[in-house]
Amino acid sequence: MIVLGIESSCDETAAAVVRNGCEVLASVVASQVAVHHPYGGVVPELASRKHIEAIVPVVDQAIAESGIPAKKIDGVAVTQGPGLIGSLLVGFSFAKGFAFGHGIPWVGVDHLEGHINSVFLEADPPAFPFVALLVSGGHTSIYHVTSHRDFHPMGQTRDDAAGEAYDKVAKMLGLGYPGGVVIDRLAAQGDPTKVVFTRPYLDKAEFDFSFSGIKSAVMRHLQLHPDPSPGDQADIAAGFQAAVVDVLTFKIIHAAKAKGCAHLAVVGGVAANRGLREAVTRDAAADGIRVHIPSIALCGDNAAMVAAVGYHRLAAGERAGLDDDVYSRVKFRPRG
Ligand code: KG4
Ligand code: ZN
Repeated sequence: MIVLGIESSCDETAAAVVRNGCEVLASVVASQVAVHHPYGGVVPELASRKHIEAIVPVVDQAIAESGIPAKKIDGVAVTQGPGLIGSLLVGFSFAKGFAFGHGIPWVGVDHLEGHINSVFLEADPPAFPFVALLVSGGHTSIYHVTSHRDFHPMGQTRDDAAGEAYDKVAKMLGLGYPGGVVIDRLAAQGDPTKVVFTRPYLDKAEFDFSFSGIKSAVMRHLQLHPDPSPGDQADIAAGFQAAVVDVLTFKIIHAAKAKGCAHLAVVGGVAANRGLREAVTRDAAADGIRVHIPSIALCGDNAAMVAAVGYHRLAAGERAGLDDDVYSRVKFRPRG
């Protein structure tokens, strides 16, 4: 089954063509980073307008690159939520029109379910059940995943998402938006023992997180030591990253052990973090747990993961109707 996936929940307009929920034939992502950069964060109204401009060329490009003629597409999957309403509406309305025009079925997909299923787009995917750490700009949660469509929350952030903390710390350091990738790069040049931030493990037996404390600690440090040199910035980035990575790594490995899972996954934008990838891979190996982290291109928002979920929903006979709308049908999970 060939599924066209469409994603427009935040600031990426994305389309992908995926065969049987696992083989990516094409995946196109148009980023709006340059548009939002001057504002230090995503401006929802600008995001919606940019999605409108990008959606047709992005879908056209994905279909052209896939080598599959449009009339051979069997179904459409589109992000239905959660996300920015105006942004979601663009992809959702387009998907509805595309499916109606081509006379093919379509389904709405939960964005978080998409991230969790991103590991199935890689060779050697995890075996069920496994635990998944979903770390992105809007979410930091741990799930026990028992099938492609069943995932049960074990814990989540009580305040900021990890990616949000990365973005805010980058802003405090004057490094621009989005900050995760910049801090990751800078952290590799710094000494994580120079400025040590507390690790909010909360209750070690639980799987909830808290990142606002680390973020405030960085702010207090900068108030006491203003105008950091480039070397100081690198040490602060390294200290911040070490604190975040320690907590994320400890909790996901602990969750795998608590559920007796031999496999764990790390997904979402922050799964692109080099420090996190290394730490989870190293520490899980010591416990005999297999780690699945998507390639960098599939960590951030993309439409291939949406198509992967859509494949399973369409194959199970699910169909959306013309009266469906964003947020109207997908059963959303608790989130941070
Ligand atoms: O999954 P995603 O693309 O969008 C959401 O659904 O939120 O995640 C975006 C988040 C941003 O906060 C960004 O700063 C963070 O992922 N991010 C990273 C890295 N690359 C992206 N955070 C840490 N290290 C990275 N290398
Ligand atoms: Zn996302």
